[in-house]
Amino acid sequence: MAKGRTQFVCQNCGTTHSRWVGKCEGCGEWNTVVEEDPMGGIGSGPGKVPKKGRPVALTALSGEIEEAPRIHTGIAELDRATGGGFVRGSAVLIGGDPGIGKSTLLMQAAAALSRHGHRIIYVSGEEAVAQVRLRAQRLQAHQTDVLLAAETNVEDILATIGEGKRPDLVIIDSIQTLWSDTAEAAPGTVTQVRTGVQAMIRFAKQTGAAMVLVGHVTKEGQIAGPRVVEHMVDAVLYFEGDRGHHYRILRTVKNRFGPTDEIGVFEMSDKGLREVSNPSELFLGERNEKAPGAVVFAGMEGTRPVLVEVQALVAPTSLGTPRRAVVGWDSARLSMILAVLEAHCGVRLGQHDVYLNVAGGYRISEPAADLAVASALVSSLAGLALPADCVYFGEVSLSGAIRPVAHTAQRLKEAEKLGFSQALLPAGSAELPKGTGGRWSEIEGLPDLVARIAGSKSALKREDEDV
Ligand code: TYD
Ligand code: MG
Repeated sequence: MAKGRTQFVCQNCGTTHSRWVGKCEGCGEWNTVVEEDPMGGIGSGPGKVPKKGRPVALTALSGEIEEAPRIHTGIAELDRATGGGFVRGSAVLIGGDPGIGKSTLLMQAAAALSRHGHRIIYVSGEEAVAQVRLRAQRLQAHQTDVLLAAETNVEDILATIGEGKRPDLVIIDSIQTLWSDTAEAAPGTVTQVRTGVQAMIRFAKQTGAAMVLVGHVTKEGQIAGPRVVEHMVDAVLYFEGDRGHHYRILRTVKNRFGPTDEIGVFEMSDKGLREVSNPSELFLGERNEKAPGAVVFAGMEGTRPVLVEVQALVAPTSLGTPRRAVVGWDSARLSMILAVLEAHCGVRLGQHDVYLNVAGGYRISEPAADLAVASALVSSLAGLALPADCVYFGEVSLSGAIRPVAHTAQRLKEAEKLGFSQALLPAGSAELPKGTGGRWSEIEGLPDLVARIAGSKSALKREDEDV
């Protein structure tokens, strides 16, 4: 590229274009391409000769391994999601929708760490000192030694956090407000965010301080300039939740120092976030015991079982094309289940609207929920409530067979703990817990499920007639 020539960078995916275009060729988004200085203004001036490289010592793969030194926050759900606490010298990105509670969570973490004698610096680029203090007061965090700065300039922040004793943890809230003198692009652009984050990561690696970066997610579900930041940091956590519900989930999507399938569950109260150590109780809390279309799914989140209610409503449509609406599950997966029900079980849903909801605003990503969803759909269509003390799990294949899933024992144990005495699970499931009081019924295929529910209908009818 010719010296000094600007390039055009998509703010969504980071693709560079040689000229301005309305639609990014990389991600297909409209109006996301912005003119930027190609080198971010760093070292791109004329007359700069690259310095000669210095050889570094090569070592073998074998050798002593040091456990990553971690800083435990004492907030169990947060420590669980990070894989045991923040790692010194690492950078963590915490993303989430604006207003979901990122600043609240980090202020609580900062206060907890500070109480344990750690030196914590909280840099707020979005709120004034007074606002942060107000929140701290609300969280009962104002009597701690957390150090506060309201600053957005990268060089000033580095100078501030580099002064005096090394901080144990630095929180930058948020990366979108960072701007550096060395980058000529406007604040908030990919170049600025990238430059700022790079500088913060360098600080973390050099000093051994843990760095927590807050990033907002745009409505498309991405942090502005996200791709470029996600791969730079050591761990990426997303703080999710539904505005209409109180609980929030901290989900790990990348972690160089720990597992990526763990979640931390919190509940937003008027005094900040409260830990939820038993999520199933929370998700089942508002359960309407016996209603057609309501089924309890025994799911897993990482190493932890989570019971959640799946609700379906199947009703005759008044539209030419029936509606399919899903909240908390994959709509493609719902279409698949509907197709299997039609093809293999003779359940016709072409004239019915189908609504599927996962209670509490929770999101299921496991295919193991297939059986629970199918049961909810058939139950709603038949207008028959299923047993309230039964949990369901199993994956449905295109042939209509129900496949075993992992962690059978853990799912069943959690169900028993919460008072469920029955389960419908795939035939051939390994690791069935022995000697438990529960009634576990194995099922081979979806047609069996439909027959079971239809069978319960005739059973119910007979009971009605008896009365
Ligand atoms: P905040 O942490 O500012 O969100 P983010 O940093 O992700 O943008 O949280 C904002 C919301 O949380 C706001 O709607 C108010 C609510 N909240 C409570 O319900 N209780 C509390 O104790 C606090 C501090 C905030
Ligand atoms: Mg905030």
